[in-house]
Amino acid sequence: FFRRKIAAKLGRALAQSEDVFIPALSAVPVFRKQQSPDFKLSINTLRSSGVLPSSGDTQQQSEELANRLKQDSVVEDISAGNGVIHFKVNRKLLVEKMLEPFGKEEDDHTFGLNSELFKTLKKGTTLVEYSSPNIAKKFHAGHLRSTIIGNFIANLKQSLGNNVIRMNYLGDWGMQFGLLGAGFGKFGCQEKLKQNPLQHLFEVYVQVNKEAAHNEDMMQAARDFFRQLEQHESEAVSLWQQFREITVDEYQRVYKRLNVHFDIYSGESFHQHGAQEVVQQLQSRGLLKTSETGAGVVDTSTDGDMSSVCAVQRADGTTLYITRDLAAAIDRKEKYNFDEMIYVTDKGQANHFNQLFHVLRALGHSWADRCEHVPFGLVRGMSTRSGEVVFLEDVLNEARNRMLHNMSQSKTTKEMDDPEDTAEKVGISALIVQDFKGPLHSDYKFDWDRMLQAQGDTGVFLQYTHARLCSLIRRNEGVCGFIFDPSLLLEPTSIIVLQHLLRYDEVLYQSSQDLQPKHLVNFLLKLCHLVASAHRELPVKGSSLEVAQARLRLFSGAGSVLAGGMRILGITPVDKM
Ligand code: ARG
Repeated sequence: FFRRKIAAKLGRALAQSEDVFIPALSAVPVFRKQQSPDFKLSINTLRSSGVLPSSGDTQQQSEELANRLKQDSVVEDISAGNGVIHFKVNRKLLVEKMLEPFGKEEDDHTFGLNSELFKTLKKGTTLVEYSSPNIAKKFHAGHLRSTIIGNFIANLKQSLGNNVIRMNYLGDWGMQFGLLGAGFGKFGCQEKLKQNPLQHLFEVYVQVNKEAAHNEDMMQAARDFFRQLEQHESEAVSLWQQFREITVDEYQRVYKRLNVHFDIYSGESFHQHGAQEVVQQLQSRGLLKTSETGAGVVDTSTDGDMSSVCAVQRADGTTLYITRDLAAAIDRKEKYNFDEMIYVTDKGQANHFNQLFHVLRALGHSWADRCEHVPFGLVRGMSTRSGEVVFLEDVLNEARNRMLHNMSQSKTTKEMDDPEDTAEKVGISALIVQDFKGPLHSDYKFDWDRMLQAQGDTGVFLQYTHARLCSLIRRNEGVCGFIFDPSLLLEPTSIIVLQHLLRYDEVLYQSSQDLQPKHLVNFLLKLCHLVASAHRELPVKGSSLEVAQARLRLFSGAGSVLAGGMRILGITPVDKM
């Protein structure tokens, strides 16, 4: 599919008599030769991807195409024979066109984003739901993954021109609040709640669960409290509200450290009524069946033989997680009229979302086809020095402290105004890169030492390269002119960097199609390796003014693309480390 899209783009470009420069060069994976910006076009590939008619004389088609391509100023040494067209790309023009956008006074962050490629994409309103922790329960590795993956998807969609709504759907309803409410009366303390809310609520929750396991009175008190909540009794509701507000405030503070924000804090509690309404709708459409145990179920099998059912109502009439999700989806569609909705959770919930979409369709909501679940794998071994992870903040602190320690050990560390802040940003980038390197559905092992290595494919390496590029530009502020001579950047090392930058739009495109961050992460890591060679082979220091200017232009271009890509991943680039 991807190859076809790219080829179609090339076809459109060829159909216009204008310069085919940038669009044609973006046809990289299909047509460009390895390790050089030159092209080898096979007539067969062009035919099978619909760029050329599938019948006709091969030799004639090749010659005609070659003649058209020849008109482009960037095309050199073109030859056609045996169904293949070879041509070279004029290096000087490549350098000039590629580095043009970076000569402006202000840093250009739009490089690659206005690509022809994105014109074929539908733009609209995208609702991304992610993070979604449960109040008073553990914030586990899955919530961390959901937070950073969802943030990446939202950033990417936004960069590509969509209107993005970022939503957090809190686990803020259910029997756990009966336990918490009743338990707070016995084990809670307002003072502690204000000082360290997440910690305190979690402690109370653990204690009350222990107590309720052997004490029937406690269990009864919990049931009573939850019933009071469901009947909106003001005392119970105001305690619940306090728990929720304090939790949201606290999360917001921690999300800020991750550079993550939400437009909306929604939650299961918002959809109690809606959930009952959904049950009624299912009933009136004849979709609600009663199971042997008395639960309300919907047939979600493909051939209507009840081989798979989805429970939407307990025997006692109360609703479930999925019932609230049904109501929430319908409510979101009404409120925000999204064009697409994306849910980010671990793959253990894949069946839940399949059922959700199935029942929505059964209710006549054809937009369920534009809802998508992005599943991810498990993380093993996420712990800190003090033990098992309970709170997001502990993970961030650990990443920062370990990074701070590594920085203090390293000889290359620079003087910094705020080393803690730098360590925090670099530590977070290490977490993100470790998480994004492979396919999202794979499980992986959490490894502090590996992810924090300065060399190798880590977030630290991305940050280090970025800081080094910034420092190079800083040291040569007087040298960076707005004029540069492209003929001074024709070394293979420089051409290879440019050729790589050329792939940026296609990498974003690919990520936008399968919502996998690995394409972008690996692209940026490769860029950093190429920049490292360029640093060695194209020194600025000791070069003539003109050469220095040209090389700085190359480095600043690479730095801008690196920073832009990092931001989409959810990483804040540091200027010094
Ligand atoms: N709170 C849930 C959990 O921690 C995740 C919610 C996912 N989103 C949804 N719409 N069901 O497992």
